[in-house]
Amino acid sequence: MRSTTVQAAALLALLLQLPAQAQTAPAADPQVARGQRLFLRCVACHDVADSKVVKIGPNLKGVVGRQVAAQAGFNYSAALKKQNFKWDEAKLHAWLQRPGAVAPGTSMAFEGMPVEADRKALIAYLAAQR
Ligand code: HEC
Repeated sequence: MRSTTVQAAALLALLLQLPAQAQTAPAADPQVARGQRLFLRCVACHDVADSKVVKIGPNLKGVVGRQVAAQAGFNYSAALKKQNFKWDEAKLHAWLQRPGAVAPGTSMAFEGMPVEADRKALIAYLAAQR
């Protein structure tokens, strides 16, 4: 009895620690759900909401299929502005692995995501943000 209470308390404490975003509307697709959790590594700088709030990085809602460096109101680096492509799965893989390999001199200060399955899940999540 006592240990059940302790376990329940521990579980509650754990749930309370979860970031707000992970608690709201868990995605039905497990791949997308995994990507949603991984997106916690991006939220300091990126938003996927409809809001026009400019964070450190551009809003990523609808980024899959979007022209690079095309978010109105965001001040991109010259390195990214001189690129000319649309964000597709292959480009996003390369970018998330090492942003500087796609646009040397980019202002996105991100160490990269080495695990391919992580990048795949994250891209599935981004593709679901329409
Ligand atoms: C420390 C802040 C920071 C973090 C963390 C970060 N980014 Fe960025 N991101 C930026 C900035 C700044 C830019 C603009 C880069 C430029 O102009 O060179 C950017 C640009 C991008 C772009 C290009 C958008 C466009 O409109 O062309 C994508 C895609 C992107 N980030 C995805 C991600 C994802 C996914 C993550 C999480 C794994 C992430 N970023 C983590 C700051 C960040």
